[in-house]
Amino acid sequence: MEAIVRIEELRSKLKAARRNKANAEGEVRVGFMPTLGYMHEGHMSLIRQARRECDIVVVSIFVNPLQFGPTEDFDKYPRDNERDLSLAEGAGADYVFLPSVTEMYPAPTKTTVVVKELTDTLCGASRPGHFDGVATVVTKLFNIVQPDRAYFGMKDAQQVAVIEQFTRDLNIPVQIVRCETLREPDGLAMSSRNVYLNEDERKQALVLSKSLSQAESWMAEPDMTVGKLELNIRRMIESAPLAVIDYVTILTYPGLEPVTGVQPFNGEQPILVALAVKFGKTRLIDNRIFFS
Ligand code: PAJ
Repeated sequence: MEAIVRIEELRSKLKAARRNKANAEGEVRVGFMPTLGYMHEGHMSLIRQARRECDIVVVSIFVNPLQFGPTEDFDKYPRDNERDLSLAEGAGADYVFLPSVTEMYPAPTKTTVVVKELTDTLCGASRPGHFDGVATVVTKLFNIVQPDRAYFGMKDAQQVAVIEQFTRDLNIPVQIVRCETLREPDGLAMSSRNVYLNEDERKQALVLSKSLSQAESWMAEPDMTVGKLELNIRRMIESAPLAVIDYVTILTYPGLEPVTGVQPFNGEQPILVALAVKFGKTRLIDNRIFFS
């Protein structure tokens, strides 16, 4: 595995690797998995999937200032490149791209990728500009790596919807691969933030994955409405005394539009149930998509 910090070096290494790995028909598949670093098993499961499906696997580690709001702490985002490099290697990466901020943004960018509507709801509502920062950096990374496939976790379902939208709108020739959320054995979705939970918060945080499983049974009830389902989920989450709900939102997926109709849960449209809940200072998200 090679760690590379310069765009031009990565481009030339990938050009040579494409030539070397191409089969008799001249085909080669490059898989790409972008990260902010500070990897956990969730990240590694995506790298492993890329390894199984591609000839060349590229991972990026870049804490992207453009996607952090002024009150969010870009400087304090946890970083551990050495550990990340060995984890990425263990999971099967061929190249890890770790550019500096000046390598990615030599001058303040005058061009950004702005995705409308999809970014106004869920996490985008409380993080204005966040998804434009994500869309802009992912577009740049796609142009640098030129992957055939790019791997994203459904833990961030809104991010996947946004990325699928702009790649389609801008005709970027990459296949976006939706990857399952990796969970702890008890159901808690893996996240770098889980380490901030104290013992009580960690126990109570299980209410997120449990309420998503319970949602499945509620949806099967014949007269279930969006309003009732949302209320049931809220009540269940609120039964954990330390839980402070940011949102419980039910939308279509990947359109992120309100769910309508007399029998909304008849299996005709994929339904996203998305949760954001604070436990102490730690904000956790989780979601499930039904009928996809
Ligand atoms: P980051 O938070 O580092 O996440 C990198 C990738 O890992 C994302 O696609 C995310 O959905 C996935 N991931 C996180 N937790 C996961 C879990 N428990 N199971 C499966 N996948 C999981 O998301 C970003 O970075 C950035 O916004 C980025 C796309 C790199 C752009 O800067």
